[in-house]
Amino acid sequence: MNNDLPTLDRRTVMAGAGALAATALAACGGRGDNESAAAPAPAPAARADGPTVLAKTADVPVGGGVIAGDTVVTQPSAGVFVGLDSTCTHAGCRVGEVAGGTVNCRCHGSKFALDGSVVAGPAQRPLASRTVRVEGDSVVAG
Ligand code: FES
Repeated sequence: MNNDLPTLDRRTVMAGAGALAATALAACGGRGDNESAAAPAPAPAARADGPTVLAKTADVPVGGGVIAGDTVVTQPSAGVFVGLDSTCTHAGCRVGEVAGGTVNCRCHGSKFALDGSVVAGPAQRPLASRTVRVEGDSVVAG
């Protein structure tokens, strides 16, 4: 059999895989500071006998919000709680903070209103909704 393709030894293949991994990490890091990975959001408290508690209502500021695992809980106005998926619709980073009245992605600077709509790009689509409800003194999933 005539094979005109170059042969790759194991070392060449592994070096290529490393370069791909570095490129993938840099693509999400944006500014190279990897802030999203440095400060993971606390995971919601799972309860075996009931809904998953995302946050205490008292811990969600009016006009702000908190990030609980893969859910952002905001309170645009007193007593109104909104659940949003924390995955940025630009390139898939987890949003890093709720500050200044917006949900902010540190990867490339997208900002979302407390209802998930886009305030500033590069994201073009709103954050996906997550169903949340108040149960007692807590905001729970579902
Ligand atoms: S992933 Fe690019 S701004 Fe969020």
